Amino acid sequence: MKYIIANWKANKTRLEVDAWIREFRNQLDVEDIADAIENKILTFIICPPFPFLYQVADVFYDVPGVHTGTQTISPSEQGAHTGEVTASMVEGDVQYAIIGHSERRSTWSETDELTRQQVLNARAKNITPILCIRNEHDQIHEGVSMVAFEPVEAIGTGMNMPADQVLERKNQFALPHDALFIYGGSVKAESAKEYLSKEGIDGLLIGSASLDPVHFVEIGRSAL
Ligand code: PGA
Repeated sequence: MKYIIANWKANKTRLEVDAWIREFRNQLDVEDIADAIENKILTFIICPPFPFLYQVADVFYDVPGVHTGTQTISPSEQGAHTGEVTASMVEGDVQYAIIGHSERRSTWSETDELTRQQVLNARAKNITPILCIRNEHDQIHEGVSMVAFEPVEAIGTGMNMPADQVLERKNQFALPHDALFIYGGSVKAESAKEYLSKEGIDGLLIGSASLDPVHFVEIGRSAL
């Protein structure tokens, strides 16, 4: 099984999300993709901004092979934390949460202690954390079953790290035994096969190339 994860970041309007969903559904009906989902070769995870979470989750909650995720989750459980979105608020609506994305670590000063708390909160509500790490210094917390390696120099730069190098780096991480290993950073449809053909890489976290549903699905098609 390969996981193809869309991280829209702070992009799109409500109307653009509607259009994305429409086209994505068309793409899911194309025979090879439909077969790949049915045969559990491909799973898509869509992580929209919070205001569009239900717009996406409502459409896909009963669609096999498509899940919804958040782009972060609060380290707090509840209370006087203005602007925070907690795990209990999205419990049941999302199956995944991206945690510790490098943009949050750098812009919002998310530390290992905060990501640890986020992981705990997500897991307590049956949300699978997709823990992003930038390098071997970012802690992989207990109970994490999905780790996304995203080297900072590869994010949004067009300089994706070659798959062989990604696998070499993988050896330096203290990955839990059964954890899925995802790569992210400037992957496009043209480069996706290099990663998805490797047994040691279980999927891709896609930023800018996920904004176009046709391109996004084309990345998944590279796994076939
Ligand atoms: P990118 O972003 O594909 O635009 O490089 C990846 C990510 O930051 O998750």
